[in-house]
Amino acid sequence: MANRSDDQWNRPLRDLRISVIDRCNFRCRYCMPEEIFGHDYPFLPKEKILTFEEITRLSRIFVSLGVTKLRITGGEPLLRKNLSSLIHSLTQLDGVEDIAMTTNGVFLPKYAVALREAGLKRVTVSLDSLDDDRFRQMNGGRSSVKAVLDGIEAAAQAGMQVKINMVVQKGFNDQDIVPMADYFQKKKHILRFVEFMDVGNTNGWKLDQVVSKQQIIEAIHEHMPLEPVPPQYKGEVATRYRYQDRDGEIGIISSVTDAFCSTCTRARISAEGSLYTCLFASQGYKLRAMLRSEQSDDEIRAYIERVWRERTDRYSEERLNHTQQATSKIEMSHIGG
Ligand code: GTP
Ligand code: 5AD
Ligand code: SF4
Ligand code: SF4
Repeated sequence: MANRSDDQWNRPLRDLRISVIDRCNFRCRYCMPEEIFGHDYPFLPKEKILTFEEITRLSRIFVSLGVTKLRITGGEPLLRKNLSSLIHSLTQLDGVEDIAMTTNGVFLPKYAVALREAGLKRVTVSLDSLDDDRFRQMNGGRSSVKAVLDGIEAAAQAGMQVKINMVVQKGFNDQDIVPMADYFQKKKHILRFVEFMDVGNTNGWKLDQVVSKQQIIEAIHEHMPLEPVPPQYKGEVATRYRYQDRDGEIGIISSVTDAFCSTCTRARISAEGSLYTCLFASQGYKLRAMLRSEQSDDEIRAYIERVWRERTDRYSEERLNHTQQATSKIEMSHIGG
């Protein structure tokens, strides 16, 4: 049944994805291409980034509006100093059922134990290939496969559940689909294949670079037969499959060929404190100035509630009808996916 706080398509607000920094130590071609995010790129100065106190306050307000799941993203969130202390504060909020973090993994050997001790139970690590040359080509030459695998191992050793995200791009890493599936089945980590998306304005997206959910499933099924698994909860982003003849499961995030906007309960906060009601939004709602003014929690809460109630976003469902791409979408490195 529709609730008075639901948006225009009767979708409640359940997830908050918080970007804590717009910088990253990688330069993935599809997210922060080197030629645009070079040494003179104007990253946010410290004073424009939300403090941990501001993030915690905002999170408390969102939780009072129905949010139960938090995800920390970046850029690369582990570039933010002392991130564990933010995790600890967020675990103290009543009503938060799940906190996760998306990371490129290379700082996990350094921070996994502290993050786990602060209360983080799971992480999602991005890894697009097990082939070192291809991986370097995709991440702008910034990291070896081994550095990421060491991070995954460190997180698992520290007692966190680890999922892996692989963005699949035709002609770049489609030959890695089966080796990745095989490797992470043996390692007992859930691997999710992400259809290449037209996020931001700089990745030169074309539909023919997308490997579809169907093609990914077929490629794996031929070597390791799969069967579908029902969703764990309404609005689950990944469609799940398990192996018929061995343990383990995979997920496919099919934002392009099988969009999931109708159940999208996700709000995003950029590192500079703007609220985005869609990954593909061009306009954010500036919360930082409100947080730094005299406005009370109730006033900010009422504002956010109004924004959510008026929300109509369903970009992925409409994408293929667009004759032209939107011209100024928020960059992925500001809202972390
Ligand atoms: P779990 O909480 O572990 O189930 O993770 P999740 O399913 O929310 O997925 P995760 O946060 O790891 O997101 C994986 C990728 O899916 C992101 O990096 C994005 O690329 C994409 N994604 C997540 N949410 C959305 C969304 O609302 N819309 C679109 N188009 N893509 C999304
Ligand atoms: N298409 C799909 N996924 C993307 N990500 C970043 N850019 C894209 C894109 N263009 C994913 C990363 C990571 C998360 C932050 O978002 O691989 O898992
Ligand atoms: Fe960094 Fe992740 Fe973007 Fe790659 S996809 S540049 S690791 S934020
Ligand atoms: Fe939600 Fe926008 Fe993604 Fe659709 S495209 S699932 S509305 S974030």
